[in-house]
Amino acid sequence: MTDRTIAVHDDGEGDEPVCNSSANPTFAGIVQTRLSRRGALLGGLTAALGAMFVQPGGAPARAATPSETMLGFAAVPVSETDTIVVPPGYTARVITAWGEPITGTMPAFSLANTGAEQGMQIGQHHDGMHFFPIEGRSPYEGSSTDGLLVMNHEYIEPRFLHASMRGGRFSASAVRIVDGKRDSDEVLKELNAHGVAVVRIARQADGTWAIQRDPRNRRITGLTPMEIGGPVRGTPFVRTKYSPDGTRTRGTLNNCAHGVTPWNTYLTCEENWAGYFRNGTVVDQKPDLPREHARYGVRTERSRYAWELAASGADEFVRFDATKRGSDPTQDYRNEPNAFGWVVEIDPFDPNSVPVKRTHLGRFAHEGVVFGPVTEGKPVVAYAGDDAINEYIYKFVSAKPYHAATANGSLLDEGTLYVAKFNDDGSGEWLALAPGQNGLTPENGFGSLAEILVNTRAAADRAGATKMDRPEWGAVDPRDGRVYFTLTNNSRREETQVNAANPRARNLFGHIIRWRENGDDHAATRFTWDLFVIAGPEDSSRDLAGRPLTADSIFACPDGLWFDAAGRLWIQTDIGESAMNRGPLAPFGNNAMLAADPVSGEIRRFLTGPMGQEITGVVTTPDRRTMFINVQHPGATTSAEDFEAGKLTSHWPNGEGYPRSATVVITKDDGGVIGT
Ligand code: FEO
Ligand code: CA
Ligand code: CA
Ligand code: CA
Repeated sequence: MTDRTIAVHDDGEGDEPVCNSSANPTFAGIVQTRLSRRGALLGGLTAALGAMFVQPGGAPARAATPSETMLGFAAVPVSETDTIVVPPGYTARVITAWGEPITGTMPAFSLANTGAEQGMQIGQHHDGMHFFPIEGRSPYEGSSTDGLLVMNHEYIEPRFLHASMRGGRFSASAVRIVDGKRDSDEVLKELNAHGVAVVRIARQADGTWAIQRDPRNRRITGLTPMEIGGPVRGTPFVRTKYSPDGTRTRGTLNNCAHGVTPWNTYLTCEENWAGYFRNGTVVDQKPDLPREHARYGVRTERSRYAWELAASGADEFVRFDATKRGSDPTQDYRNEPNAFGWVVEIDPFDPNSVPVKRTHLGRFAHEGVVFGPVTEGKPVVAYAGDDAINEYIYKFVSAKPYHAATANGSLLDEGTLYVAKFNDDGSGEWLALAPGQNGLTPENGFGSLAEILVNTRAAADRAGATKMDRPEWGAVDPRDGRVYFTLTNNSRREETQVNAANPRARNLFGHIIRWRENGDDHAATRFTWDLFVIAGPEDSSRDLAGRPLTADSIFACPDGLWFDAAGRLWIQTDIGESAMNRGPLAPFGNNAMLAADPVSGEIRRFLTGPMGQEITGVVTTPDRRTMFINVQHPGATTSAEDFEAGKLTSHWPNGEGYPRSATVVITKDDGGVIGT
């Protein structure tokens, strides 16, 4: 048998292609309009950056005073070493690396692990994460020594997953195809390396943390049976051979960031899911994809990992081919991609619970989801970003009020999904994506709420939302309720859209936007916004006070974002592998985590990661004396040629062998609160 190996496409860090061809204004265009009204010159970067930090729309200045030292640590320098660096007085230790056994027969980690064994182990490429104190009542109260760590496994790097690929010339996204087929157990292993892990961890007498055997330990994967909830449940959009009545599907994929509900469940968000599918339907010799596939980037040739080519031909693998096979949609998988692109709710405390796709939160490249503060008797509000070039920021407002005693996921099944429009005067509005509103009528192709939700991006185009520079994580300041979102970068910004404040043609460095809802009511339909920081090197950046960033604070491509309970803002960076430590992005070194004081605007680098990775996920124990972060895809910068030669850019965390994504536990040597 000839080994006709094919490196399946170069995926560019797993993002989908640009899919927004609507004529909606870009965020840059709006800022440009704002600035031109102020008479700012496009070339006057400094003056214009300063102008942008005027408080917009009369938003009240923050009155709160920090009750503890916000940035009480020495900044760490940028790094290009294959290790974790934390400030003096802190210690970082590794737990839950890819392949650690957590459940079932607890198979020991080995490159030779089978697909089934991977399903009992920690997955690959750790991302969003939460620590649920073991008592299981409240997301941020309870034990600080014992809990369920729940984390996403965003995607995979097949060459580090399979013994069969050792010594081959494989890029980070390549898979092995032999005679047009994929090895079925390798496909199973890849599906089982995706999804979510639930694992009990506890602090030991010596202060370290360790995995505990527990009946709640669980792997949710690309194969786990799930319910489809909300308005799309039972509609023709999701009828498949597997679920002819459109109520169920299998698995969750490309789980990037997450959310934690006020009722103490975990939300996992499906981001770059579209490329996992192909749709080869052809009419009149041309690809014929419905907009619910085309607007998201479902492929017409081979899918990202070519799971549809599994040699076994098993139904759970073949379904990744959404090609229309005849007249009956329940005899093929033309609708399978419509069961993806959602936020999925998981109850980590009930290992038998069936995850539910909450379709009223919309369908797009979900980065994460973050809730506004809850008030008894008021609606629940959740914010979410669509991380793709020129996509949008959304919020969901529940129809029913929150009551702590009875709140559950059904609150997410009824309400209104809105999309954000950022006006040029610093005000903003939330446009409802609901039948009959903002042009969403049957005449315009939106015949029902389900049709709007399956086609959330198209509905937002129609409503006139503002195109953004790749919205990533959101965070809500616990002290004043302001909402912050990272806008990681936008390499496709055109020269004609350049202005000094939102910033450059090819926005390589990204920025962080924030807003305040009118009347501090998260259900409001209007808000005022400004920019918290424009990231970049010293000569092309601005903090809240209008100061350039310094050697202690320069960063690029903000992604993860999280407020701790004291109001300290944690910022994680994701400079893509193709740009890392090169060209304009060389000054930033390896991806890092910084902390910011949202009152003073001061930012300081807290942690740098090993080679080729990004820092993802952040949470502390309730006492804030233990912090957990994830290191994702160390060594991903290894070229295909170097992989073949056995020369890897990272051996983290073991110092030898293949690199492995893992969780890092950070403590202060004096037992103090992290960051103080
Ligand atoms: Fe998976 Fe947008 O980062
Ligand atoms: Ca991310
Ligand atoms: Ca990434
Ligand atoms: Ca990212």
